[in-house]
Amino acid sequence: MPETTIQIFDTTLRDGEQVPGCKLNTKQKLVIAEKLDELGVDIIEAGFPVSSPGDFESVVEISKIVKNATVCGLTRANENDIKVAAEALKLARTPRIHTGIGTSESHITHKFKSTQEKILERAYEAVKYAKSFVEDVEFYAEDAGRTDNEYLARVCEAAIKAGATVLNIPDTTGYCLPNEYGAKIKYLKENVKGIEKAILSCHCHNDLGLATANSIEGVINGARQIECTINGIGERAGNTALEEVVMILKQHPYLNFNTNINTSMLYGMSQLVSDSMGIYTQPNKAIVGSNAFAHSSGIHQDGVIKNRETYEIIDPKDVGVTESAIVLTARSGRAALAYRAKNIGYNLTKLQLDEIYSNFLDLADTKKEVNDNDIHQIIEKSKVYKEIISA
Ligand code: KIV
Ligand code: ZN
Repeated sequence: MPETTIQIFDTTLRDGEQVPGCKLNTKQKLVIAEKLDELGVDIIEAGFPVSSPGDFESVVEISKIVKNATVCGLTRANENDIKVAAEALKLARTPRIHTGIGTSESHITHKFKSTQEKILERAYEAVKYAKSFVEDVEFYAEDAGRTDNEYLARVCEAAIKAGATVLNIPDTTGYCLPNEYGAKIKYLKENVKGIEKAILSCHCHNDLGLATANSIEGVINGARQIECTINGIGERAGNTALEEVVMILKQHPYLNFNTNINTSMLYGMSQLVSDSMGIYTQPNKAIVGSNAFAHSSGIHQDGVIKNRETYEIIDPKDVGVTESAIVLTARSGRAALAYRAKNIGYNLTKLQLDEIYSNFLDLADTKKEVNDNDIHQIIEKSKVYKEIISA
């Protein structure tokens, strides 16, 4: 059976940019948008045009330069937001309006002080109005994660009747468990009339650290689009990390899904977003963290030196990292020291290695990491230096 391609909807420039203190200017957004297009994302959510003149301008400028991806603008379910988004997207090669409304009990009662029937009506009207500007309209049911499935199905039906091409099912508060989120997608797939006219999209937040797992569960249960951000950035604990879902689908081929992402650009993309926003990426971040391919304990280092796959499930080159790192610490063994010494030109015999290893450990106990310069010095000061260099 041929693989199914999952659409990657990148919202780094909209939901991702909602990180407090990480505002980007239009110029920075253009650089990121161009790179996202090159990376192969299918949709770029460029901003929320009505929210500020700056965001409007960014969506206009991004629409002009993106060559391959669909450019999308977010709106609330009202005519002015939608009209402004349509205006901002006018020059996009393939524009999409992303409109929607909160559907959970809590949103309907507290945020809108409304009723289920009135919200359903607003959802229908918003999609209908957006359709008068563009063909491609995505509807989001905000807080779908905590929305009763039966009501959610009715809202989705109304959105499809009004012409929605994509139904976004956000777990806005990151509350769902993977089996719950997967069951929600399955329920919608099986119970929404007209569902074959639209695709379901996962939009999962990471408040409980489950965004990636929920998105994958969504896809397994019938969703065909994942909404995500580079490095998983976003409000509170962030969004689903693009690099994680893409690599999960790639590393598990039996799931029979693929994406259009050029994975060798992932590390560079992560660095670009981190540098532009001034958000440091945690070293142990999956796929793109500085330690994602670094090995520091003796047992692991010995295994990786013998065969990389012993402790690595991804070839670092596949995500744009030049090579695995063998980090020298007080937990490192002889194999790692010999490997690193060889990299800087010393081919040590077993006896020579024994001789310098204890000096290495003495130094390693005094500092976090032993570098190439330290290795040179340890060797130069050793009794076997002459023997080593004359070999
Ligand atoms: O998390 C969410 O519900 C959203 C919607 C506005 C799509 O970001
Ligand atoms: Zn969101």
